[in-house]
Amino acid sequence: MKYIGTNELRELYLKFFESKEHLRLGSFSLVPKNDKSLLLINAGMAPLKPYFTGLETPPRKRITTCQKCIRTGDIENVGKTSRHGTFFEMLGNFSFGDYFKEEVIPWAWEFVTEVLQIPKDKLYVTIYLEDDEAFDIWSKKTDIDPKRIFRLGKDDNFWEIGVGPCGPCTEIHFDRGEGPISNVEDFLKASDEDRIVEFWNLVFTQFDKDEEGNYNRLEHPNIDTGMGLERIATIMQGVDNIFEIDTVKNILGKVSKLANVAYGADKDKDVSLRIITDHVKSVTMMISDGVQPSNEGRGYVLRRLLRRAARHGRLLGIKDLFLTEIVASVVENYKGAYPVLEEKQEYIEKIVSLEEERFNETIDSGMNILSDYIEEMIASKENILKGEKAFKLYDTYGFPIELTEEILEEKGMKVDKDAFKKEMEEQRQRARSARGETSYMGNDEKPINKIESSVNTKFDGYGKVELKSNIILLADENEFKEVIVKGEKAYIVTEKTPFYAEMGGQVGDKGYIITSTGEAFVYDTKNNIGGKIIHYVEVLNGEIKTNQEATLKVDARRRKNIARNHTATHMLHKALKDVLGSHVNQSGSYVDDERLRFDFSHFQALSLEEIEKIEKLVNDKIMEVLNVGTEVMTLEEAKNSGAMALFDDKYKDDVRVVSVGEFSKELCGGTHVINSGEIGLFKIVSESGVAAGIRRIEAITGINAMRHMEEKQNLLKEVCAMLKSSEKDIIKRISQLNSELKEKDKEIAELKKKLTQGSENDILDSAKDIQGIKVIAYEIDGVDANSLRDLGDKLRNKIGTGVVVLFSNVGGKVNLVSMATKDSLDKGIHCGKIIKEVASVVGGGGGGRPDMAQAGGKNPAAIKDGINKVYEVVEALLK
Ligand code: ALA
Repeated sequence: MKYIGTNELRELYLKFFESKEHLRLGSFSLVPKNDKSLLLINAGMAPLKPYFTGLETPPRKRITTCQKCIRTGDIENVGKTSRHGTFFEMLGNFSFGDYFKEEVIPWAWEFVTEVLQIPKDKLYVTIYLEDDEAFDIWSKKTDIDPKRIFRLGKDDNFWEIGVGPCGPCTEIHFDRGEGPISNVEDFLKASDEDRIVEFWNLVFTQFDKDEEGNYNRLEHPNIDTGMGLERIATIMQGVDNIFEIDTVKNILGKVSKLANVAYGADKDKDVSLRIITDHVKSVTMMISDGVQPSNEGRGYVLRRLLRRAARHGRLLGIKDLFLTEIVASVVENYKGAYPVLEEKQEYIEKIVSLEEERFNETIDSGMNILSDYIEEMIASKENILKGEKAFKLYDTYGFPIELTEEILEEKGMKVDKDAFKKEMEEQRQRARSARGETSYMGNDEKPINKIESSVNTKFDGYGKVELKSNIILLADENEFKEVIVKGEKAYIVTEKTPFYAEMGGQVGDKGYIITSTGEAFVYDTKNNIGGKIIHYVEVLNGEIKTNQEATLKVDARRRKNIARNHTATHMLHKALKDVLGSHVNQSGSYVDDERLRFDFSHFQALSLEEIEKIEKLVNDKIMEVLNVGTEVMTLEEAKNSGAMALFDDKYKDDVRVVSVGEFSKELCGGTHVINSGEIGLFKIVSESGVAAGIRRIEAITGINAMRHMEEKQNLLKEVCAMLKSSEKDIIKRISQLNSELKEKDKEIAELKKKLTQGSENDILDSAKDIQGIKVIAYEIDGVDANSLRDLGDKLRNKIGTGVVVLFSNVGGKVNLVSMATKDSLDKGIHCGKIIKEVASVVGGGGGGRPDMAQAGGKNPAAIKDGINKVYEVVEALLK
């Protein structure tokens, strides 16, 4: 058979179906759009679901794609078998109510036997048990030997995942063995033994399976086919392992070189080599589609794959960070098919190395801890790791639970998964906003999401805020309606609308819908799942009926403020690239009438200087009063014109490019100002980090920015008034006040000193004589504990034989200190004992040595009683 490279195969397939009038679309993002049922795209048909069910109209009835897919269901088999991988590419051709079995079967045969030139005696075909039609077409419209067609049951030849589009299928298989197979039993046995490999699945999508398990016939039957690119490449390259096809082998070779481990020398090491190869491929593709490591959803899948690859690097003896070098090899091998990889290479590498670094910091301590756990378990003859321990590894050391399980499994041990989950759940409940359960199709079952695709809602609001149109549909949460009345919250759908539906980070418009019988306030505008424009309303007066003519009025002032912020967002994007570098790319944005928020890739906090530069650049361009223009062109033309685009966005054939003079050009469907001068003023109000490698800027424009400046101005005025200074002298005034304060502090300290010195004599004079011992019990307020002790010390030195107890009320609290001369101790004096009893009188506690003790108390009002207590205690001690 002729050898065909993987990249060439992809091209041959797409070209073949283009020659059959298919529209070739690029791979959709791995991140599903409007489909909460899927974490990641897992089949060629997945991003096309709305076309299959009729919710959206496809750009052409025949489409062909090579779709990036990720499946992690069999992750533990990756590397261990010849055909499991988490990342793969699925070649597919699709018919949306156009051709059916009659066409697709002969085409498939033509491609396989004429383009790929696979010998006919190497091919078998399976069909669904009852599908006589498929049998007839195979045997009459192709030259396959009918003995090579086998009928199988629902498990093999009926394709469905959960609910959604599904149907019987026919599959094409390659025989790696020798000699004919003449019955189904032998065929199935050969399949199990990997002699027979299935490589192309043609699904006759004629049902839409619902939640109750009913197979509802679709109005038009569709075709959905899927051929695993890696799988067909193994066949065309005469290898039996997906890791040995040309592209993948290059990457694996890179891993093997870095680890200095030859492929094929050691079974366990081969597994690690293959795991790293596969996982880094997935990781690279996911990050290029905008996924970032996190502890939730697809971010967690990414983190798991990355950490699993990092750990297998360790197992191979790699000590340093190494994943980015593998990323580079993935980019090298896939950039032809996915040019975006090269554009994003630096960014992908940065995310990977940040994550790898983070994990590396903790992996060794985590591994040590896990080893300790394992030893403990061996010693106590247990083989289930406690949930809280697994959780600690997860939470503190970043070990995905699957990693802990995998390491334990190597020792024949397990994790108490239920207990682990409980710990997780407790943690999650704090952080997670519950994600609603949805069906496989991701359909929200509200009536407003079930509008026929034949219904058209046209946005006609560029440069326009008011128009008249007919009301085509009304609905509430539960049903479509003919009329909605005052006080009711509902949805209105019109043929045309000037209301912009929330998209591309721009919020939906607000305003009014008015008919001859009533008036409704539009509090939001959004697209439904099928892309129809829906007005979210509350009826203010009268009633509104279907088929009425309505005047639709957008709140124009709000629209203009949104436009200011939106155009400013484009200018900010460009300014960031100019000031920080071309690595800056948008990772998210939000624009409403109050402010704008822009998230972008960059690896450190912005300096004050950078922020000023960016702000200045945008304001300069505002003052240049640049024309804001829009142009519709092909994606190719847009790219050539240098327009910036969100790399994970999927654009249909023609795109709209918004330009601000020569300064910025960006793909965008939003509403903008007419010229940059309308923005008035641009002011950045905050800059912060939102995730590893992602920064966020919040900014305001127009009157809001002016208000913001005004507030600052007023604040300054107030400060000036309070400090009795003019604005021009305010800095001088503040430093003058600062030095005055310092002077005053010095003065106060000196005065305090003098004060205590002055009172020393008074205090000494107050001494009482009790049985030949001088006893001082004295209150001197406003002295802190240290100064009080110094004073006590001085008094003790002057008293002769005796004991000093000082009380001080400082801000409502009592400081207490007691000092005694050495010779008084022989007579029974003990400061610790004195303080203990006295402190309890002033609401405190304390104690200490015989010659020195201190305490605090809470009740200054009782100081007088404390003083009396001193004499009492001394007398008792002397007895
Ligand atoms: N959707 C079919 C599959 O994934 C073609 O196998």
